Amino acid sequence: MHIASVGVSKLCFLLSLAFCGLLLLLIPAVQHQAGRVDLPQPRAQARPTHTAQARPTHTAQARPTHTAQARPTHTAQARPTHTGLQQHAKPPAVSVHHLHTGLNRSSAGQTEGTMVHSPSPNRGKDSNGKAGGLSGSGSRDPLELKDIFIAVKTTRKYHKSRLELLIQTWVSQAKEQTYIFTDGEDRELQTRTGVNLINTNCSAAHTRQALCCKMSVEYDKFIESQKKWFCHVDDDNYVLVLPLVALLSSYHHSQDVYVGRPSLDHPIEAAERVKSDGSVSVKFWFATGGAGFCISRGLALKMSPWASLGNFISTAEKIRLPDDCTIGYIIEALLEVPLTHTHLFHSHLESLLKLPTDTVLQQVTLSYGGFDNRRNVVSLVGGFSLAEDPTRFKTVHCLLYAQTDWCPQVQPHHSD
Ligand SMILES: *[C@@H]1O[C@H](CO)[C@@H](O)[C@H](O)[C@H]1NC(C)=O
Repeated sequence: MHIASVGVSKLCFLLSLAFCGLLLLLIPAVQHQAGRVDLPQPRAQARPTHTAQARPTHTAQARPTHTAQARPTHTAQARPTHTGLQQHAKPPAVSVHHLHTGLNRSSAGQTEGTMVHSPSPNRGKDSNGKAGGLSGSGSRDPLELKDIFIAVKTTRKYHKSRLELLIQTWVSQAKEQTYIFTDGEDRELQTRTGVNLINTNCSAAHTRQALCCKMSVEYDKFIESQKKWFCHVDDDNYVLVLPLVALLSSYHHSQDVYVGRPSLDHPIEAAERVKSDGSVSVKFWFATGGAGFCISRGLALKMSPWASLGNFISTAEKIRLPDDCTIGYIIEALLEVPLTHTHLFHSHLESLLKLPTDTVLQQVTLSYGGFDNRRNVVSLVGGFSLAEDPTRFKTVHCLLYAQTDWCPQVQPHHSD
C-alpha cells in the first residue's frame, strides 16, 4: 500500500517533469506565432473576401482564434482568406461564390490579405465624422487615392451642363479612379477628356428602377475593380479628394464601414419584405445619395447576396424604395451594420450658404442647387464672380489647386 503510493507519486513526478520540458520546448514556437498575430480576431472576419471553394483545405479546419499557422500560407499566396462572409451573410447564393472565386483569381497579385489591423476608432456609431475624419491611422498601410473607386451617377442630358464642370474641376484630380455611370454613349466626351465613362444601358428616366439599375452596375464595377473603397456621388457633387482620403484613412477597408449623411433626422421605416412577408416593419438609417457616401470593400462584399449581378434591383423592388434607401436597407437592416453619420458630405437639399466659409475646403463633398431663382451654393469668394461661376465649383477648385491653367493667376507680390 505504502510502496504502491510512492510508486504512483514518482510516476506523477516524472510525468510532470516531462510535461514541463515539453512546455519549455514549445514556448518559443508559441511566442513566435503570437508575435505574428497581433490582429484583432473578430475583425479578421471582416477581411475583404470570400472564396469558399478556393480556400485551401486547412483553413476549413477550425481556426477559431489564432490563425497563426494558416497565415503564412495565405500571405505567401497573397490570398485574402476566410470564412467571414459565410458566417455573416445569411443566404450566400451560389452566384456569390462564383463571383468571388472569379475575383480571387484575378486578385492573385494583391497583398490585401496580409493587411488586417488598423485601429477602428469609431467604426459604426460615430460621432459626426468630424472627429472620426482625421484621426489618421493605417500607418502600416496608408490609404491612397488610387485605392478609392469613385462612382459618379449622371444621365445623358447632363453631360454638357453638369458633367463637363466636374471633369474640368475635381475629376481632373482623380481621373483614373473616377467612373462615370450614364445611360447613353458619348464617345466624343470620352476621347476628348479621357474619363472612364460607363454606359449602363439603364433607362434615362428618373425612376426608381432606372436609378437602381445604375447603382447595380456601379456596385458590380466596384467589386470588379478590386479597389478598397466604394464612394458614390451625384453629378452635382464636388468631391474634395484629399479630405476624402483623410476621412477614409481613419478606417480600414476590411472593417464594415458605411459612411455618409443621413437624409433625415430619424431612421426610415419600411415594410420588411426580404426577410419576412412585409407584415413587420423595419427601421434603418440610410445615407442620402445626393450627398455621396462610401462603403468599405469588406462591407461591400457582404452585401453581394442582395446587391451583386442584378440582385440589387430585385432587392429594391421588394422593398419599393429608391437606390440610396436600398443601400441603407441592405447594410443596416439586413447586415446590421450601422451607418456612420457624417456632416462632411453635402447635398443640394441642405442650405449650403450656411456652411461656414472657413470650413468649406475641409468638407468631403459639396453640392449646389437652384441657382436660377433661389441660389443655394457655398459662400466662397475667389477668382470668379457668381455670374462666371454660379455653382462655385470653379472657385473651390482654384482655391484648392491654384496652379490649374484656367484659374485666375495670382499676381506675385514683388515683381522685378
Ligand atoms: C451596354 O450595352 C453594350 C452594347 O450591347 C455593351 O457592350 C455594354 O457592355 C453594356 N454595358 C453594360 C454596363 O452592361
